[in-house]
Amino acid sequence: MESLKILALSGSLRKASYNTAAINALKALAPSYVEIVVGGIGDLPLFNPDRENEVIPSLEKLKNTLGESSGLILATPEYAHGISGPLKNALNWLVSGVEFPHKPIMLINTSPRASHAQESLKEILITMSGRIVERANVSVPLLNSELDSEGIAKNEEIANELRAGLSEFCSEIETQKLNARVN
Ligand SMILES: Cc1cc2nc3c(=O)[nH]c(=O)nc-3n(C[C@H](O)[C@H](O)[C@H](O)COP(=O)(O)O)c2cc1C
Repeated sequence: MESLKILALSGSLRKASYNTAAINALKALAPSYVEIVVGGIGDLPLFNPDRENEVIPSLEKLKNTLGESSGLILATPEYAHGISGPLKNALNWLVSGVEFPHKPIMLINTSPRASHAQESLKEILITMSGRIVERANVSVPLLNSELDSEGIAKNEEIANELRAGLSEFCSEIETQKLNARVN
């Protein structure tokens, strides 16, 4: 099986974030041919179109990793019915780049009640020409669970949900790659 590199971003900067924990759990649960790289968005400056031609190391790193990745996994908290500011900031920086468009995307929602942020995130991603792989999206009830990444990976039900979503995501990426080779 050809190896797959996938970038994962959490929209939360909180140390004990459920979104970050879910991503780290998925990284631990991933099969050996899948490398999940957990990226950072906390060091990006506030988006300013006047700075788009500047070399900003944290942005270069994000763009390079995204460019090398076959897919993108996103997990965002809902704040006041919107997506997290840090994630929106990161996405705004990626709008005019070549790395994002047509990238397959898997969404992890760690709070099923947080439907506004998920819908808003989908709208943003579609506007940016991302390709959301709906059958890979996972919604797992982590809010108030007190689970960290190890606890999530050990929780059979939640771990199975995450694994199943990742498996769908990877098979969609593989299919796309095959189709691209044939066409
Ligand atoms: C300022 C603030 C606003 C929030 N607004 C919402 C909201 O509108 N809807 C919701 O479901 N949860 C809301 N929450 C709860 C967070 O989404 C929840 O705590 C989530 O776990 C945070 O993600 P994290 O654990 O990855 O940091 C809010 C939390 C904070 C701190």
